[in-house]
Amino acid sequence: PKAATATFLLLDWYDRHHRDLPWRVSPPMARKGVVADPYHVWLSEVMLQQTTVQAVKAYFNKFLALWPTINDLAAADTEDVMKAWAGLGYYARARNLKKCAEAVACEHGGRFPDSEEALKALPGIGGYTAAAVAAIAFNRRSAVLDGNVERVISRLYSIETPLPAAKPEMRARVLALTPEDRPGDFAQAMMDLGATICTPKRPACSLCPFRASCLALATADPETFPRKAEK
Ligand code: ADE
Repeated sequence: PKAATATFLLLDWYDRHHRDLPWRVSPPMARKGVVADPYHVWLSEVMLQQTTVQAVKAYFNKFLALWPTINDLAAADTEDVMKAWAGLGYYARARNLKKCAEAVACEHGGRFPDSEEALKALPGIGGYTAAAVAAIAFNRRSAVLDGNVERVISRLYSIETPLPAAKPEMRARVLALTPEDRPGDFAQAMMDLGATICTPKRPACSLCPFRASCLALATADPETFPRKAEK
């Protein structure tokens, strides 16, 4: 597929069909180069690891009501944070959440750093979260690769290499498609496409912005991607 065309079609689809999620609503940003509130983006991405979008919405709103800024969360009582987290599971994530807030408040003056590398140095922020915050909050061209995006990209390019060996190829493909001007929207568009159209079972290919160029659709059964190594 021609990258520029595929990217354009995806962003056009996203403009019309994106999901309205609370962390996508950001107040006007005072800070130059920021396109969505980094605190909101980070909080939602940590919550979304292993938890569905639907379940996360209420927790996200509750956290922001209790701790409107990263400095509020840094100053919070750890017990209160654990209590507010109850039900989301994976409590190590909540402990790291608090540690990360403290690090941003104390070491970065309450402002998240804007590069993937600096983000990755913070407690509890791994490769995925660093890439997601860099792209969505700071509009950086980072490759955001979660399960949804792996499925979309493996089908679009009919990637025969099984996971996890296929990750470098997937990353390169995602980066090649990522536009200069809207990397954050691109990352979220790929996630929304994977969640709503390019689903694991019975994907809605007739509604997909990539339908004209998807190699899995043209030559094979999209459902069989991504390939997985034999167990
Ligand atoms: N899953 C993880 N992060 C997401 C995001 N920013 N938008 C939609 N789904 C997601």
